[in-house]
Amino acid sequence: MKALNELISLAQDTLRDNDRGGYTIPTKGLYPFQWNWDSGICALGWQTFDEPRAWKELHYLVKGQWDNGMIPHIIFHGPSDEYFPGPDQWGLKDRSLPTTSISQPPLLATIIRTLDEQARDQSAAAREVRHLLPGILAYHRWWYRDRDPEQTGLVVSYHPWESGMDNSPAWDGALDRVPRVDREYHRRDLEHVDHDQRPLQAQYDRYLYLVDFFKNNDFDSTAIYENCPYRIQDVGIISILHRGTLDLITLVEKYLPDEDINDLREATERTVSALPGLWHKGRQAYVNRDLITDKQIPVVTTASVLPLYGKLLEPDQARILAQQIEQWIDGQPCGLSSTHPDEPEFDAKRYWRGPSWLHVNWLITQGLQYYGETLAQEKIETASRRIVDDHGYWEYYHPLTGEGCGGSNFSWTAAIALYWILDPIRTSS
Ligand code: DGY
Repeated sequence: MKALNELISLAQDTLRDNDRGGYTIPTKGLYPFQWNWDSGICALGWQTFDEPRAWKELHYLVKGQWDNGMIPHIIFHGPSDEYFPGPDQWGLKDRSLPTTSISQPPLLATIIRTLDEQARDQSAAAREVRHLLPGILAYHRWWYRDRDPEQTGLVVSYHPWESGMDNSPAWDGALDRVPRVDREYHRRDLEHVDHDQRPLQAQYDRYLYLVDFFKNNDFDSTAIYENCPYRIQDVGIISILHRGTLDLITLVEKYLPDEDINDLREATERTVSALPGLWHKGRQAYVNRDLITDKQIPVVTTASVLPLYGKLLEPDQARILAQQIEQWIDGQPCGLSSTHPDEPEFDAKRYWRGPSWLHVNWLITQGLQYYGETLAQEKIETASRRIVDDHGYWEYYHPLTGEGCGGSNFSWTAAIALYWILDPIRTSS
């Protein structure tokens, strides 16, 4: 077992090594740009030892925001030929700051509220929040306007990469119906990570078809909403967005008390009313819905328990999910597997089909703590501490052995370890 100070300096060094002067790349080689939800988690890590740098991370992310409010999933701040699909593939390389054309789980508002409430320099925090808030308001309004034009309460996502849980088996059926791209391309991810830890070629062909589809539709929200061959109500995104909006409302009440945010309050009410439509009776968990077939997708993944984090549940529903987690993690000494082990597609080392992810473990414990579900919370915390003690900062981990998988020296793992597992104050509270 390593000493606490050794683990802390290793994690800080990981963030410093991956710092590109204002934004943090997830890891060298595999991911050489700024990713949306990675950045939010990185900011939490930076805050533990360099508060100004934490705020800077968020400013760099918001630089990539589109005029319609969308904050993209990747901001291509500088050139790199190590990643595919890069800016040329998305059809947006001529933007002053090239980006992708999709988003990612909107953690940002919650991260800003956390940084603000825990800031050592409160006046700097107030300045930063005032500067960031208009962009974040526009971002949330974009989700509710462009991704839920019929006001169902459940926003839609158009690409597995938007979920952040790229090759989750929950997307298999919907993705299978997407045509495969029929042009040649060269995957760069397989030069950095073993094949058996990455998505399959058949999935990549469809990821790229969707990238082309957005470009061919001139990124037009209405055309994409009507015609995209992949449309999912993702319970992970929906929960994270809902929690983010609650935190955004708190920030606006504090810093922009004259701003009219009734639209956001109404959006949260719609989501609360609609969420029961994602409850799967047989699985006793929330699941995603495929909007093309208009059917629930009966696959249990870590997204299924994120309504806890979203503060979307009544206590009796939270109890059911906590019991699920207590059983799910038994036999998984190295964290909650991203796909439930009873699912036939469970694959312990393949990206989002089985491995445990430290930041997702943290999100879930946040929800469990909120509902006072301490047994499940402690089980996840113990497993997460073990990963950090024994295996260092990998992208994801084999949930049974703790073997580090994917990219090494990984920023968001180091960041959330600093903020959560290695912080003596927060861990003892
Ligand atoms: C990748 O390239 O694997 C990324 O996860 C896409 O966001």
